[in-house]
Amino acid sequence: MKIHTLISPVSVEDLYFAGKTTVVVDVLRATTTIVTAIANGAKEVIPVNTIGFAMKVSGNAFGGKTLLGGERNAKKIEGFPLGNSPLEYSEEIVKDKSIVLFTTNGTKAIVRAKYSENLFVCSFNNIESIARELVELNNDVEIVCAGSHGMFSLEDSVCAGCLIDRIEQYTDNISYSDASKCSAMLYDKYKENLLEMLKESEHGKLLMSNGFEKDLDVASRVDIHHIVPVYNSGVIKSKDKIKTNG
Ligand code: MLT
Repeated sequence: MKIHTLISPVSVEDLYFAGKTTVVVDVLRATTTIVTAIANGAKEVIPVNTIGFAMKVSGNAFGGKTLLGGERNAKKIEGFPLGNSPLEYSEEIVKDKSIVLFTTNGTKAIVRAKYSENLFVCSFNNIESIARELVELNNDVEIVCAGSHGMFSLEDSVCAGCLIDRIEQYTDNISYSDASKCSAMLYDKYKENLLEMLKESEHGKLLMSNGFEKDLDVASRVDIHHIVPVYNSGVIKSKDKIKTNG
């Protein structure tokens, strides 16, 4: 299994992902929020790459049970009932709902990777489940860090390194791209204090200055959810729900 890591999806075209097994990571905060929403019983999350498209697919689509969520520059978008804080996506709010989500980097990364044969959503919160899934599939893997406006993000690369570390616990049949090796080294440096790492990161500082310090705490928790969110035909669902509900 060769593990590639992209520090941002912007360097590749959509078709780069055709036929690949891909994992998208946006620890602060899109993939943490998606994992939270799915774990709390949301029927599905529909990631979109423009605000206009978010408005179009909400409203009466999906049986009138949609909720619109997202952020621009870390702040809630005017007219959207939900922002991008995982704490807003409680069971009470999201159960059985279809959530249309727009975020600056995370949902765009997922949409960019839409042609992947297998496309998974990963955060620290569900990392063990994703690692096991990848080991079972035994394909080459693309880890896509959402990054920030095409640039490197510390927290996403550390999470990519954590995923690599978990995969290594199940198989030694792995080869690494240079970016994967760097991610593994970064994880090794920060693994004892992920919360401090998030607080040191540029985006973590921006979130704290906007009053979202608690989101960093949620995002730093490892393996609190045992779910594999899968993107297929425009929607993200839990793998178990796809099996049982079709
Ligand atoms: C993003 O997609 O850029 C992030 O999730 C931003 C955030 O809400 O913190």
